[in-house]
Amino acid sequence: MESRQQWGTRAGFIMAAVGSAIGLGNIWRFPYTAYDNGGGAFFLPYLFALLTTGISLLSLEFIIGQRYRGSAPLTWSRIHPKLEFLGWWQVFIPFVISTFYAVIIAWSLSYGVFSLNLSWGQDTETFLFSNYLQLTETPGELGGLVLQVVVPLLIVWAVVLGVLFKGIKKGIETINRIFIPLLVIMFSIIVVRAVTLPGAAAGLDALFRPDWSSLTNPQVWAAAYGQIFFSLSIGCGIMITYSSYLPQKSDTTNNAFIAAFSNSGFELLAGIGVFSALGFMANNAGVGVDEVASGGIGLAFVVFPQIINQLPFSQFFGVLFFLSLVISGLTSLISLMEVVLAAVVDKFDMSRNKAIAIFGGISFVVSLLFATRGGMYLLDVVDNFINTFGILAAGLLEVVVLAWVLRKLDSYQEHANFYSQIKLGLTWKVSLGIITPIMLGFMLIQAFIENVRTPYGGYPANFVAIYGWGVVVAILLLSFVPQYKQWSAERVKQSEVLKQELDEVI
Ligand code: ALA
Repeated sequence: MESRQQWGTRAGFIMAAVGSAIGLGNIWRFPYTAYDNGGGAFFLPYLFALLTTGISLLSLEFIIGQRYRGSAPLTWSRIHPKLEFLGWWQVFIPFVISTFYAVIIAWSLSYGVFSLNLSWGQDTETFLFSNYLQLTETPGELGGLVLQVVVPLLIVWAVVLGVLFKGIKKGIETINRIFIPLLVIMFSIIVVRAVTLPGAAAGLDALFRPDWSSLTNPQVWAAAYGQIFFSLSIGCGIMITYSSYLPQKSDTTNNAFIAAFSNSGFELLAGIGVFSALGFMANNAGVGVDEVASGGIGLAFVVFPQIINQLPFSQFFGVLFFLSLVISGLTSLISLMEVVLAAVVDKFDMSRNKAIAIFGGISFVVSLLFATRGGMYLLDVVDNFINTFGILAAGLLEVVVLAWVLRKLDSYQEHANFYSQIKLGLTWKVSLGIITPIMLGFMLIQAFIENVRTPYGGYPANFVAIYGWGVVVAILLLSFVPQYKQWSAERVKQSEVLKQELDEVI
């Protein structure tokens, strides 16, 4: 059996956690989510979600990862044997996310290449949907693989699996130490250019102008929580896995604050950059910012190419923008896959390399579904359902179990405060034990009712039933299966030693 790997340095761990957090969610999701949910007023629910749930849950995940030193299923089964399924649920969620996340990075890679001669032309919408994605007419119709998506997808998986193959310190830590500073430099150049463009002020005004009435809308709060969970990579096993490679005496609370504020700082930077650029585009077209603002796929692959067309040094900024998406996405995809690998290595006593070959291969094959002509529709539905009824639901279960069923918060608080500069107090416990479950519970009920009433995104009901509800229910049920296989004698022994150690410490 291989001995458990560790991060080389504290900074290396922080870089990796920040690399996981900063991803596509920051660049293409945050700006529009903020704009669409009350502009400046969105920052209130966003900050509330960050300070109550985001940082608190991140510190909690860092504590349990470092304390129990296992993959998500091993960690949860060490907390309580009946909770192994929660660990597997938190493995299936990132597995599903990784399969479509890789495809978006593949699109970004293609667009990085297209930037060299602005191949998207003037009609960027037709280029994306007809020429590049060759989108089918009807959702549910797969329509065969799109070669120009499959090739970059292969490259993305090769890079990710290559890094994972190198291990925690030499692979993940090294790549994040290079990519994160590089990303910050590249993205800062884009933002500085964007804010100095004519019309930028109007864009920023559209982003930051508060619509206070939005604060009474539960969907705005749900959007803030959804953004915080996805963006901070919490609720889905990632941070538990990453912190399981920490040395025993690490300052987890301080690390959580650094990671969370770096992530939100980058998010804010992305919002400023994106909306300045949108202001520039609206200014050129002589229309309001609301007419050009859009989110997700439309923002990155339709609107941004148009903006790039209008910029001096178009090619340079095109490459910079799409490469930023690629880099930010790769470091997050690596973390998503690490959750899966760590879990199978722990459970099946498989060598890491074998796990990479088998599960990397499976992830690649499944991701091909999203590289078909109908892939974009699938991606949209799976993404929406997995975020709400996967991540948020698992996050809710996590806090309820630890705060109320097992009542672990006091001992975890003591454990963290022993090693950490920043001391966790009553606010932490109230945030996790009361505010977070109430907010998440309320949101999930709302989202459930809404999704039952109207099929998501105007798609046919049976399509949403299979790829939305079907996927989230299937992974929840599957999570109960692996517990029927016993942990190896070696793991059981390790768990016993660990238990003794923990009993002695606190
Ligand atoms: N946290 C990652 C992101 O924001 C998954 O994209």
